[in-house]
Amino acid sequence: MNMVTLFFLFFCVHTRLSASTSSGYDKIFSFGDSIADTGNLLHSGALANPVIGSLPYGETFFNHPTGRCSNGRLIIDFIAEKYGLPYLPPYLQVAKSLKSKAKHGVNFAVAGATALDAQFFYDQGIGGILWTNDSLNIQLGWFKRLKSSMCTTKQECDSYFKRSLFMMGEIGGNDYNYAFFLGGTITKLKRMVPLVVETIISATSIVIEEGAKEVVVPGNFPIGCSAIYLTLFETQNKTAYDGNGCLKAYNAFSKYHNTQLKLALETLRQKYPRVRIIYADYYGAAKALFHIPHHLRLENALSACCGGGGPYNFNNTARCGHIGSKVCEDPSTYSNWDGVHLTETAYRHIATGLLDGTFTSPPI
Ligand SMILES: *[C@@H]1O[C@H](CO)[C@@H](O)[C@H](O)[C@H]1NC(C)=O
Ligand SMILES: *[C@@H]1O[C@H](CO)[C@@H](O)[C@H](O)[C@H]1NC(C)=O
Ligand SMILES: *[C@@H]1O[C@H](CO)[C@@H](O)[C@H](O)[C@H]1NC(C)=O
Repeated sequence: MNMVTLFFLFFCVHTRLSASTSSGYDKIFSFGDSIADTGNLLHSGALANPVIGSLPYGETFFNHPTGRCSNGRLIIDFIAEKYGLPYLPPYLQVAKSLKSKAKHGVNFAVAGATALDAQFFYDQGIGGILWTNDSLNIQLGWFKRLKSSMCTTKQECDSYFKRSLFMMGEIGGNDYNYAFFLGGTITKLKRMVPLVVETIISATSIVIEEGAKEVVVPGNFPIGCSAIYLTLFETQNKTAYDGNGCLKAYNAFSKYHNTQLKLALETLRQKYPRVRIIYADYYGAAKALFHIPHHLRLENALSACCGGGGPYNFNNTARCGHIGSKVCEDPSTYSNWDGVHLTETAYRHIATGLLDGTFTSPPI
């Protein structure tokens, strides 16, 4: 990137910031997977000894594990900070005392969750690989239960949701991850995309029908730049990699999903013209981490901070937190945390790009 483009980028960011008209939010409701989970998987008890319940998870910011799949804060935490709200409590932790604990919203996201129902994967004979059955539909069920305990009449509910921000994801990434890791080909998985997109759109319609006025719907990440994909699908074929060392075909797959999602959101906007339906370009926001890592003071763009060796420090038999893995000295110089998830530093960069409007359309 040359100086002129850089200047232009900053200029855009600057003007968009000053043009922001948002009056802020008093509640956030978040759905999704490990990118946004602030403790639900841990509380669900789905896994016997989940590594995310031990250090080094949480070491950087919270100084103890919280169930977040990172060393520190996630995108959703930075969004909460920006609006002066407390970090979102995981639904499963506060389900028994919603009235007092859900004043500023709740997080329904569960690490490992899929957009499609778990049954879909069981029907394909690959259900055994799921970490959790708490797919988007289950999370929506939790949301409806929460709603019924917070308000009853339409008027009450409208007022309860008036200044709420809904985050519908990121979700769907795992639907593809599970299938890719079990040997699914890109051609075959492309057939899943309409199903996954339709499920995300349907969930978005449901929260709108229930009263949401502002919904952010994120796309998928550049998975071809992820240490786990780079390790599992490593190839001698040099033309398979782009200039940043990412796997082109897997990034193209993410873009394919994102294009379908954006098209479907356009239709949804026509159906609900009074609702702000915001696309969050997680792909674009994360791509900068791999495109201009040194500019962001990231010494290590592609290899994981915490892992068990190999060219990208991702080793499936010695994943972060397991015997044989080691954690890097300074996670703030890494994008990738454990091979699959990103570091707090990376999530902060992404959140900044969303909140300043560069990677949200229309801006949050
Ligand atoms: C998910 O559902 C399947 C089938 O009903 C069940 O066998 C499995 O134990 C469930 N998994 C979890 C983590 O709850
Ligand atoms: C190498 O990768 C490129 C880009 O993905 C692909 O088009 C080509 O078929 C691959 N070549 C071989 C020999 O696999
Ligand atoms: C991956 O981890 C296993 C178990 O600790 C170890 O035996 C193996 O050498 C590691 N592989 C690499 C490439 O570091």
